[in-house]
Amino acid sequence: MRESNEAARKTVARAAAVTAPTDRGPASAWTSDPGPLRCPGCHGALRRTDAGFACDAGGCGARLAVRDGVLAVRDVMTGDNRIAADFYNSKLWPRLRVWDSLFWLVNGGQRRARQVALRHLPKGGGIRLLDVAIGDGVYTSWLPGDWSVVGVDISIAQLLACQRRNADRALRLVLGEAEDLPFRDRTFDAVLSNGGFNHFNDPEAALREMVRVARPGAPIVVADERPDFLDIGHRAGVPALDRWIASRLMSMGDDFADVIERHRSLDIAAIGRRVLKDCRYEVVWRGLGYLMVGAAP
Ligand SMILES: C[S@@+](CC[C@H](N)C(=O)[O-])C[C@H]1O[C@@H](n2cnc3c(N)ncnc32)[C@H](O)[C@@H]1O
Ligand SMILES: [Zn+2]
Repeated sequence: MRESNEAARKTVARAAAVTAPTDRGPASAWTSDPGPLRCPGCHGALRRTDAGFACDAGGCGARLAVRDGVLAVRDVMTGDNRIAADFYNSKLWPRLRVWDSLFWLVNGGQRRARQVALRHLPKGGGIRLLDVAIGDGVYTSWLPGDWSVVGVDISIAQLLACQRRNADRALRLVLGEAEDLPFRDRTFDAVLSNGGFNHFNDPEAALREMVRVARPGAPIVVADERPDFLDIGHRAGVPALDRWIASRLMSMGDDFADVIERHRSLDIAAIGRRVLKDCRYEVVWRGLGYLMVGAAP
């Protein structure tokens, strides 16, 4: 759900307040110009300051800190995004990674399996790519070196891991929510979102944001597990079994397992049809996942 400008401005101010106004750590790609950024509060222009970025437009006065190379647009997430951020910032995620690795293995290996989504990105040089929910950027180094990659995620732990993994690339990383992207309209040549879409607070709002920031005709590529991929228990009439598998066996924890359960009946294809031009939806990864590709109208 979109906040009013005033509420958004307050959120930004809060984020800046809990963010130390320093830019220590690894070399940041947020060095000089604001690139694709716009003020998340009033949507005006930003300018670089010693501590990050400042909005002088319309008296909004928002201040965004760049901390350890990551631009913090929002430090405290909202609703289910907060539960997801806590999960991805915690030690539970490395445990789920074991299952994640198994998932890629049974699908022919990570590099090959991820091509299902990556092959829909444009070919050629100089592409401006937005990766929504970039995580630790496993595949970022596979993309051409002259692409300009901007990544958004709600988890600071994942963003810092992404930066370490891609230390030789000038990534522009943003701590913030997919539902409220701090970028100007019609900026990116392609948008990718892999692995987080189902449990965003509001997947449709996030897809609309991806469309807004993409130039008309740009490909929007979304892939994830099927929202109801865990269905042994539901099919056997014992839904609690699926929750136990998610929470305990797969180490997602109770709160995140509940988020997954809440989103299990999402109709991803219908969302895509409402938002994307020429939307195609297909089940991939041995029936466990989906790929949705369309264009920004
Ligand atoms: C399974 S990981 C996928 C990471 C990466 N895209 C990949 O394919 O390896 C899911 C990511 O989505 C992020 N995420 C979840 N909800 C989000 C939201 N509403 N906005 C931005 N990122 C989100 C999580 O923090 C996490 O890093
Ligand atoms: Zn502003």
